Amino acid sequence: MAEGARRPLIMGNWKMNLGPADAAALAGALLDSLPAASAADVAVAPPFISIGPVGRRLAGSEAIILGAQNMHWEERGACTGEIAPPMLVEAGVRMVILGHSERRTLFGENDDMVGRKVAAACRHGLVPVLCVGELESERDAGSTLEVVGRQVRAGLQAGAPPSCDGLVLAYEPVWAIGTGRTPTLPEIQDVHSFIRNEVRNIAGKEIAAKVRILYGGSMNPGNSVEILALPDVDGGLVGGAALGSASFLAIVAAAAD
Ligand code: PGA
Repeated sequence: MAEGARRPLIMGNWKMNLGPADAAALAGALLDSLPAASAADVAVAPPFISIGPVGRRLAGSEAIILGAQNMHWEERGACTGEIAPPMLVEAGVRMVILGHSERRTLFGENDDMVGRKVAAACRHGLVPVLCVGELESERDAGSTLEVVGRQVRAGLQAGAPPSCDGLVLAYEPVWAIGTGRTPTLPEIQDVHSFIRNEVRNIAGKEIAAKVRILYGGSMNPGNSVEILALPDVDGGLVGGAALGSASFLAIVAAAAD
């Protein structure tokens, strides 16, 4: 990442893993091992039911930011099974992953819904982590930038960035998630720089220079050093390798280098 410009962020996306007891235990293990003053921000996004116990385990520490994996855009109402932004705020959540490809492909979230969620997060003082990324068939068809550009513009449609302190984006090629495959380093850098340029067009130079763009998709201790060194990569959104404290902390160490 560019020297001195943006503070790196490593966020663990625990997905549908770790119930209350196991999640609190992993949070505790991370807290015990993280250096007091790390050069990287660290966040974890437990499943909803584990947010309370993890929040209590992290209470009083600034070392780990509490995140969530999703939320609805409305403040309350008849939405069985959903969680509203003020509920996350009350639980101590500060960052929320939105538009993850598993939400888009398995649960039918479209660009419009993701845009509403991003705007709602900003309204409620939550930092949105807007996920974008192409399917393998879209990459093969040469439409990666077209797809990613559309997702970035739709995700930020409600004029979120200017009002949104700390906005984060995550580039996650869908075919790289959980597969052990990653794009080449130049491919990652190209998409990240394209995303920053899209943000510049929407929100201006200053916000584009500040916005953090994470890479996600099979990031692990072995590949993280090189990926995190790319000029427009400002951190990682980590799934599988975030479920063990040693592998997650190794990625955090790579980011803090
Ligand atoms: P992965 O998942 O690291 O297991 O590929 C990343 C993500 O989906 O956020």
